[in-house]
Amino acid sequence: MAAKKPTVKKKQTEVIFDPKKIAPALVKTAHVKGMEGYKKLYNQSVKNPLAFWGKVGKEQLTWFKPFKQVLKSNFAKAENQWYVGGKTNLCYNALDRHLTTARKNKAAIIWEPDNPATPSRTFTYQQLHFEVCRMANVLQANGVKKGDRVTIYMPMVPELAMATLACARIGAVHSIIFGGFSADSIKDRIIDAGSDFVITTDTGYRGGKVIPIKAKVDEALEKMSGHVRKVLVVRHTGDHVNVVAGRDIWWHEEAEKVSGVNKAAEIDSEDPLFLLYTSGSTGKPKGVLHTTGGYGVYASFTHKIVFDIQENDTYWCTADLGWVTGHSYILYGPLINGATSLMFEGIPTFPDVSRFWKVIEKHQVSIFYTAPTAIRALMRFGDEPVKKHDLSSLRLLGSVGEPINPEAWLWYHRTVGRGKCPIVDTWWQTETGGILISPLPGATPTKPGSATLPFFGVQPLLVDSDGKPLKGATEGNLCIQFPWPSIMRGVYGDKERFYNTYFSTFKGYYFTGDGCRRDKDGYYWITGRVDDVMNVSGHRLGTAEVESALVLHQDVAEAAVVGFPHDIKGQGIYAYVILKEGRIPSDDLRKELIAQVAKEISPIAKPDVIHFTPGLPKTRSGKIMRRILRKIAAGEIDTLGDTSTLADPAVVEILVKDRQK
Ligand code: PRX
Repeated sequence: MAAKKPTVKKKQTEVIFDPKKIAPALVKTAHVKGMEGYKKLYNQSVKNPLAFWGKVGKEQLTWFKPFKQVLKSNFAKAENQWYVGGKTNLCYNALDRHLTTARKNKAAIIWEPDNPATPSRTFTYQQLHFEVCRMANVLQANGVKKGDRVTIYMPMVPELAMATLACARIGAVHSIIFGGFSADSIKDRIIDAGSDFVITTDTGYRGGKVIPIKAKVDEALEKMSGHVRKVLVVRHTGDHVNVVAGRDIWWHEEAEKVSGVNKAAEIDSEDPLFLLYTSGSTGKPKGVLHTTGGYGVYASFTHKIVFDIQENDTYWCTADLGWVTGHSYILYGPLINGATSLMFEGIPTFPDVSRFWKVIEKHQVSIFYTAPTAIRALMRFGDEPVKKHDLSSLRLLGSVGEPINPEAWLWYHRTVGRGKCPIVDTWWQTETGGILISPLPGATPTKPGSATLPFFGVQPLLVDSDGKPLKGATEGNLCIQFPWPSIMRGVYGDKERFYNTYFSTFKGYYFTGDGCRRDKDGYYWITGRVDDVMNVSGHRLGTAEVESALVLHQDVAEAAVVGFPHDIKGQGIYAYVILKEGRIPSDDLRKELIAQVAKEISPIAKPDVIHFTPGLPKTRSGKIMRRILRKIAAGEIDTLGDTSTLADPAVVEILVKDRQK
């Protein structure tokens, strides 16, 4: 289908959408009603956080043993413990406790496959419980114990959810790797986590194509002989895969050997729940560690309030379980709340650009949560594909992962939401475990492009480059000044790195890495990362990671990578490459370099532009001036600023000339 221009106008940033006007029915039944409701609870939550979170902690989770202390913290030192002394189990909270209620036969997960001709699969809470108990028994029978790190590399199939919950059930720490990552990335993560057990599938489907899954695991394991004892393989497509005797076991065979009864382990509130690797501004991705009690309380509470979950909702978050959004808002949040969560194996454009709308119609989805990059990609095809479908079941829309431009926001609101659905633009991070800044759908008047106001208990702060707090309408570095229950507890295996990365830049505060503007109404507008982290189609990548992949090529002497504005992806990847003496730039070499990055990291990290250059702008002390590289990549040639302090100012002229070609 031909791409059409979107119908909405630009620059309507100050239009305000009041839920009372656009969604009066939602406001009437919402968990938090009106701004008065929000303000009252917010004030309570920051005035007396311990009382607030103590109450929420008791309400959200079933505890085997009550907690003794709500919070034990030395925030400035990055030390935080929540619900101290409490014992619980998040798998028990997500499944078992619903079985004695009317939710026993309610759909927990509706699975929608990549190919619409394949039937959907639905698991009730009872059925999911049975499968998860069997999976837990299989893990235990194969020697997985509490505290062991289990690596999961799977496409979006129901067994991925089962494997994750089975780990939580027995107290094993899951480390899910997004199914698009390369064998090298898998290897690095398995080694860093010290993991000796892997769960995977034969192959997977994505956009009608077959993708290798087990083969990538095999390749990773070949490169590190002896680390991994067992690989549990789920048969998904039925494609032939290589089986290593003594190491690889099939889920369908193992499942036959065990019962469907498994007692959920008693887990300490501060016992680790999962590791999730994410990119930072330096070095290799780090293992963000989340623990049990605080994470479970915060993920489920934010899910209930921000998405205003009601008993009959069909809730669909389009993320992959390999990202934090999938962890908190496909799996733990929804299931702890007893909601129906839709899990989607496919992509928005297969078999055609109306797939999302078909799925919403088919399952009568009432809450839809996706990323701006998907909205922008679909908006190009105009209103027609949306309007051909019955989307009247939708009552609430959500956005996550990157700033949403007002144009995309308005299209989402008017065309997808028929002007009747509030949009929650949720700002958060892998490190925060749950949503920190977002409108509440029955309360907050929204402005397109703004994540609006802090969630309960969250105390944002904008500081200048010296760490001085800024008041009123202003712009600065976004920090948080008080702990919340699902703050990450550490970088796995590197205690110092947690403090150094997040708490050392602005003393006493958690620094998010994001820039942010606060307007006269106190609304927050995230302006994007201020560090060397890029956000490409909502995927987080470090410039340093991409540079390391490029310099592995035999012809490359040096590389510098920056993000640049991209219409669909939000940010694209722009790589400046210096070749070794005597090597000639060519289109073939460009292709090789792009393939190299895909192989080392993932296809999601492929540079959009490779710019061969004889040199890079550096200070006299040898530091690359990334500010200048970003400006050139963005085409903002007129505002390069002072280049006189550079070691070789002529380099800039060459770069600008080549950029304009
Ligand atoms: O820059 C912010 C951006 O995504 C970063 C976090 O990325 P990640 O850890 O991969 O988590 C993504 C899903 C929570 C943030 O530092 N970001 C996330 N949500 C928004 C956003 N930027 C603007 N608006 C958002 N709603």
